[in-house]
Amino acid sequence: MSAGAARQAPRIPPEDHVFVDDVKKSFGTTQVLKGVTMHLRRKETAVIIGGSGAGKTTLLRLLIGLEKPTSGHIWVDGEDIGPLGERPMNRVRQKFGMVFQYAALLDSLNIFDNVAFPLREHRKHMSEKDIRDKVVSMLNLLGLENKEKRMPSELSGGQRKRVGLARALMLEPKILIYDEPTSGLDPQTSRMVDDLIEETRDRFGVTSVVISHDMASTFRIAHQAFLVIQGQVVASGTPDELAYGESEIAREFIAASGVAPDRVGRVENFKQAPEGGAAVRYHPSS
Ligand SMILES: Nc1ncnc2c1ncn2[C@@H]1O[C@H](COP(=O)(O)OP(=O)(O)OP(=O)(O)O)[C@@H](O)[C@H]1O
Ligand SMILES: [Mg+2]
Repeated sequence: MSAGAARQAPRIPPEDHVFVDDVKKSFGTTQVLKGVTMHLRRKETAVIIGGSGAGKTTLLRLLIGLEKPTSGHIWVDGEDIGPLGERPMNRVRQKFGMVFQYAALLDSLNIFDNVAFPLREHRKHMSEKDIRDKVVSMLNLLGLENKEKRMPSELSGGQRKRVGLARALMLEPKILIYDEPTSGLDPQTSRMVDDLIEETRDRFGVTSVVISHDMASTFRIAHQAFLVIQGQVVASGTPDELAYGESEIAREFIAASGVAPDRVGRVENFKQAPEGGAAVRYHPSS
């Protein structure tokens, strides 16, 4: 909980890691988000789907405090991040790890230095030996042993994703955000990335937020999915609830993708909501 002037959270369920509370965002006269409400539950995977230009990236930028809502609130661990200045916001940002599209590795640095980068930037007190131990054990954990001296260009797309994930995990975030993690990957590698997202969630106990255009991936990994259309969450629920539930717009969106959850199935070792889990809630379209 924050001290000082930050607003007291009114009614946030304890399982909500992030609560997006009626958030609106305008750029000039254009309203991009029109009152978005989302409960992102602890240690679950939430997948945000929706058409191009729907406002997904804008939402992501608001979550990590790169933009401020025009109105509404974003509560992270019960703390309203809207009023925070740059310095306290940096503290909140450390709760988040970002896995960027195409991994966004630094091409001129080898794999070791790419993964060590956040530690060298944010953990100035750490010795070179501690950095080495931490980086090497993470690379081993993610199946990248003996790749330290390679350059990013010498790795496959799937390996680069894992390096990006290793780097995102260095500062031990509690919330991992993946921006289109499977775009540009072949179906087999996409499946490996899906497995990796679920394994990482389970092993590190993180909350995952995934922005995706990949419906098959969404069905494999999502505890809940949010369908965003023109700046509004029009439906949310489990993949089955979206594909076969009450929301016509969701059924149509999924049918148009040509992918069905019962044909795709879950990633191997998919675990339902942890700790007995929050009951699945369904928000009919607004
Ligand atoms: N800084 C900005 N200034 C003005 N308009 C913006 C700004 N950022 C985003 N927009 C507009 O907001 C809308 C939503 O953009 P956003 O990038 O959030 O969409 P998206 O859902 O991520 O789309 P995609 O799936 O194509 O990545 C777009 O119409 C975009 O032009
Ligand atoms: Mg986007």
